[in-house]
Amino acid sequence: MDFSLSAEHELIRETAYKFGQQEIVPGIRELDRAHESDPSTLKKMGEAGLLGVSIPEAYGGTGTDYISLGIVCEELERADTSARVVMSVHSGLHSLSILQWGTEEQKQRWLPSLASGEALGAFALTEPNAGSDAVNISTRAVRDGDDWILNGEKTWISLSDYADRFLVIAVTDPDTPKKAKGMSAFIVDRSSSGFSSRPIKGKLGVRAGNTGSIFFDDVRVPAANMLGGEGDGFKVAMSALDHGRYTVASGAVGIIQACLDACIPYSKDRKVAGEPIASKQLVQQMIASMAQDREIGQLLYYKVGWLKNVGTRCTREVSLAKWTNCAAAFDAANKAVEIHGAYGFCDEYPVERYLRNSRGAMIYEGTHEIHTILQAEYELGLRVDKPVKPGLPAV
Ligand code: CAA
Repeated sequence: MDFSLSAEHELIRETAYKFGQQEIVPGIRELDRAHESDPSTLKKMGEAGLLGVSIPEAYGGTGTDYISLGIVCEELERADTSARVVMSVHSGLHSLSILQWGTEEQKQRWLPSLASGEALGAFALTEPNAGSDAVNISTRAVRDGDDWILNGEKTWISLSDYADRFLVIAVTDPDTPKKAKGMSAFIVDRSSSGFSSRPIKGKLGVRAGNTGSIFFDDVRVPAANMLGGEGDGFKVAMSALDHGRYTVASGAVGIIQACLDACIPYSKDRKVAGEPIASKQLVQQMIASMAQDREIGQLLYYKVGWLKNVGTRCTREVSLAKWTNCAAAFDAANKAVEIHGAYGFCDEYPVERYLRNSRGAMIYEGTHEIHTILQAEYELGLRVDKPVKPGLPAV
């Protein structure tokens, strides 16, 4: 077993770290306060090559491996969750799904512009009445000649107002007894007639990230834009979530590191009765717990990255990493607020933002409860990962 990261991984970490600290951290408090996202960040992420990580060079990407993707997510979320969310949605849920499920023609057609950042991709599964219960979506696609006509509404869609293309899951056969077999996946252009979006305001966290609802009113989509076969939509969605959850799990480690980045200097500087609070054992216990969770979190996501690199389906392991790391990040942020005392309760210091941001990841891309149930089902032998589809890459 070899735990060492390559020189390339270290360089990628350095690049993503610098990007986060130079391009995101300086303006983040004001954006977060104003509940505003900055589209110029998306452009800069593309120019820095971050949006093509894990996409093969043949399709315009950097050709780097999945550990690299995890490292980028970790370092971006160390700066702010909103930047990592872009990676989760554009790279994880959208681009990697095209890489896994697309025909050669589709990969050539869509991936180069995604890898360069010329086009932004997003993912649309969740609906007002179907979140965890993804099998009960109602957005409908009806065949009409060489096209499909889409009608419905999706919500909690990251990059809803900026993405150029959406991976949309819709019902194509409402009469099939197994609902999961009655869905298909489509790549829908924002420019399509009948498409519209509306941002969601007043979020608890990830306030510098764009989230909203999207609407399909007789949106005509060419049949050539179907990703996977007719009836594959649920599997496309679930395997997309395998990619997305990996980016969320690795990003969560970045929040834990950010908590340490904030708490170590603060606790050495802040004095109680003439002693720095870093000398107090209860504070040390909290710092130790954060360091412990960072190490566990990295091991969990490195293992998933390795499984993805060797091409092994890892739905179980990715769920475990996402479940564990997101709860650990929330716990670390809570401890970071505790260490900062009253200063942790206002945005003069970044830790209150970490607390609000980390809470979201225990809801999106599979709630904490969904992952708890999945882990129990795997352990009890009630759920087994098998090959998704003959001829399809496993990851
Ligand atoms: N990859 C490929 N195929 C998969 C799969 C995966 N990871 N998981 C399941 N499948 C396949 C199964 O093999 C099965 O196929 P067969 O019938 O051929 O065997 C089929 O899909 C149905 O699978 P299940 O029986 O396991 O389905 P289920 O109904 O038990 O799934 C669930 C339940 C796992 C909880 C699932 O509904 C789930 O993950 N729900 C949470 C959804 C979620 O995470 N939503 C977040 C959306 S994204 C977001 O948050 C917003 C954003 O913008 C980021």
